[in-house]
Amino acid sequence: MKVLVIGAGNMGLTYAEGMATSPLLGKHKLKIYDTDPKKIESLKNNSNFRVFDNLQDCLPTADLVFIAVKPYHCNQLFEDMKPMVNDEQLMVSLMAGVTIESIVVGLGIPKVVRTMPNLPAKVGKGVTSYTESKAVSKVELILVRNLLDTTGTSIHVDTETFIDASTGISGSGPAYVFYFMQSMLEAALNMGFSDYDSKVLVSNTFEGAIELFNQSNLSPESWIDRVASKGGTTQAAIDSMEDNNVKQLIQDAAYAAFNRAIELGKEK
Ligand SMILES: NC(=O)c1ccc[n+]([C@@H]2O[C@H](COP(=O)([O-])OP(=O)(O)OC[C@H]3O[C@@H](n4cnc5c(N)ncnc54)[C@H](OP(=O)(O)O)[C@@H]3O)[C@@H](O)[C@H]2O)c1
Repeated sequence: MKVLVIGAGNMGLTYAEGMATSPLLGKHKLKIYDTDPKKIESLKNNSNFRVFDNLQDCLPTADLVFIAVKPYHCNQLFEDMKPMVNDEQLMVSLMAGVTIESIVVGLGIPKVVRTMPNLPAKVGKGVTSYTESKAVSKVELILVRNLLDTTGTSIHVDTETFIDASTGISGSGPAYVFYFMQSMLEAALNMGFSDYDSKVLVSNTFEGAIELFNQSNLSPESWIDRVASKGGTTQAAIDSMEDNNVKQLIQDAAYAAFNRAIELGKEK
């Protein structure tokens, strides 16, 4: 199967790297196309890919095309692609907010899978949600899922609303975790720990808490109960967060990303 990735940025390259050694590609090397000469130059020595700076040389023969440009670049890209695509090709969009309908109309082809990826795909721990247009068959969907899973795990959702919603949870979510980590790092530094010790304290605390969560059936709330005893130190911290409505603020932030994903789809 011939797979092409359009856009060798954060996401495109991450998914390309995940998929490059998949047995699904058979004897075909994964192809990457980008308009940035510097990116093309830097990829030319990567033996996992064939790199292109011209759509005509890579798009017409591709079976499956991953589109990983920024949403505001997609209208121009669709115009460029349209004369070279055909109804048998399957498009997989990684773009936030860009609807299946706008891709079907923009490219004039029926088979589209829309996904919401996330950055931990870089280390094989990504989670991608995906949904599809009616013309995509079950077999094609399994194929796409197998490719997405080379970067972590994936969930199928029934409607595009859940794609926009997962933008607010998993797509943008790593930044919320980094925000929390940064806050704790700054607190540790203010308390007098060195840079190194602050990093060890914070990163191991996150890693350990996630491992505990993954290895049990307990909810985060139950784990909080296990750490916090009445009148103790953890309870003092949790009380402070509750007094400041932190839970609600985090939920508001997730909804802000969800709503922004919907807006992006209208803006582009
Ligand atoms: N980053 C994330 O964590 C994240 C999470 C979820 C979803 N996404 C989605 O993933 C998509 C890609 O984001 P990204 O962060 O990977 O962006 P990025 O790093 O800017 O990568 C996009 C790449 O595409 C290139 N490009 C622009 N126009 C092109 C065209 N017409 N044909 C071919 N290549 C073109 C860009 O070149 P230039 O640099 O020269 O413009 C750049 O190399 C976005 O739609 C975003 O919504 C990203």
